[in-house]
Amino acid sequence: MEWLIKFFKGSDYLVPALDIGSYSLKLVQSQRKGGKYKVKIYGKKEYREQVFAGTELVDEFELINSIKELYNELSVKDKDVIIHVPLSACFYSVISIPSSKDPEEAVIDYMKSIISPEEFAQVNIDYKVLPISIEKGTVDIAVAAVRKDFLDIRTKIAKQAGLRPVVIDIEPAAINNQFYLNNPGKTVSPVCLVDIGASFTKVIVSFGGYPYITRNVELGGQAINEHLQREFMLSSQDVELLKRGEQVKDITYDEAFNVIKKVLRKIATEIMWTIDNFKDRFNLEVEAIYLYGGSAKLKGIVDFLGELSGLEVNRGDPLGFSGIFGNEEYAVASGLSIRYKGDKDAKI
Ligand SMILES: Nc1ncnc2c1ncn2[C@@H]1O[C@H](COP(=O)(O)OP(=O)(O)OP(=O)(O)O)[C@@H](O)[C@H]1O
Ligand SMILES: [Mg+2]
Repeated sequence: MEWLIKFFKGSDYLVPALDIGSYSLKLVQSQRKGGKYKVKIYGKKEYREQVFAGTELVDEFELINSIKELYNELSVKDKDVIIHVPLSACFYSVISIPSSKDPEEAVIDYMKSIISPEEFAQVNIDYKVLPISIEKGTVDIAVAAVRKDFLDIRTKIAKQAGLRPVVIDIEPAAINNQFYLNNPGKTVSPVCLVDIGASFTKVIVSFGGYPYITRNVELGGQAINEHLQREFMLSSQDVELLKRGEQVKDITYDEAFNVIKKVLRKIATEIMWTIDNFKDRFNLEVEAIYLYGGSAKLKGIVDFLGELSGLEVNRGDPLGFSGIFGNEEYAVASGLSIRYKGDKDAKI
């Protein structure tokens, strides 16, 4: 009966998107009506046990169970799913080549210049000639490379949870696409999108609707927890409460924030480094920073990063396109949710 369901669903039907984060799962299913997108279902689930240690999957069983539970809780019956490759497991950049050069050749030459022949054999490379270019007389090409073994593992996990991945997108594209979905007018000047998750901070400079440069920083909510635990001798549960502004054992949020600032300073340095790198390469100034990820909820983070960077800093609203505000941790799932199989409008 699957064909019948497909028929009734119509070609505008969007399948659920699942962000497998290192701290929690986020699911978003959107729908499209009359060319407008709306959120149909969204929800998240934190793992009970540690599932990832950095990039390494340490508890496959807990991950698969959590996926099944989240689907049950949200009553999602779809088997087709859209998942992503985290920035830590992929490479993404934009290269500019003279209009006279062959794009495919340029992409291969470029990749061979940055990775070894062994690595080259282990990755899937994809590229897209962008409809915009920053410099006159050149063509901008988005280049993405993903490790094949990573794709195999993610696909296997999804299958074990009873799902069928139909689209696998890369994380910087998902974060970028949700930004332009929510801010369609913001294509004239470059922006810096920062997703501060649990294990990693993803920094992306986007311009004209496309991500241009990316940087994966090995710092996030988990690093903040470790600093707080060490400083105040607290359990990980207490630290989570403290970060959310609750007083734990006479420690005020202000005292905690002084420790949190140490990690935020390092993150800010990496953000500024990425912005400077973009400026050096493309001679354009980033105008504003948008924060995503669960750690973007930290009280005081917007003002503090604003002081450090001298730029306008905002919290992003990944589901704002549907009138749902906050929920910064849904950036990846939101961006994935507007993709579909055979998608020709895909930015990347
Ligand atoms: N209200 C809050 N205040 C401060 N920190 C918070 C808050 N809510 C969640 N966090 C932190 O956000 C982090 C989780 O964010 P998120 O869900 O974006 O991570 P993830 O996508 O699972 O991780 P990653 O992208 O690194 O794999 C955790 O470190 C958590 O402690
Ligand atoms: Mg994340």
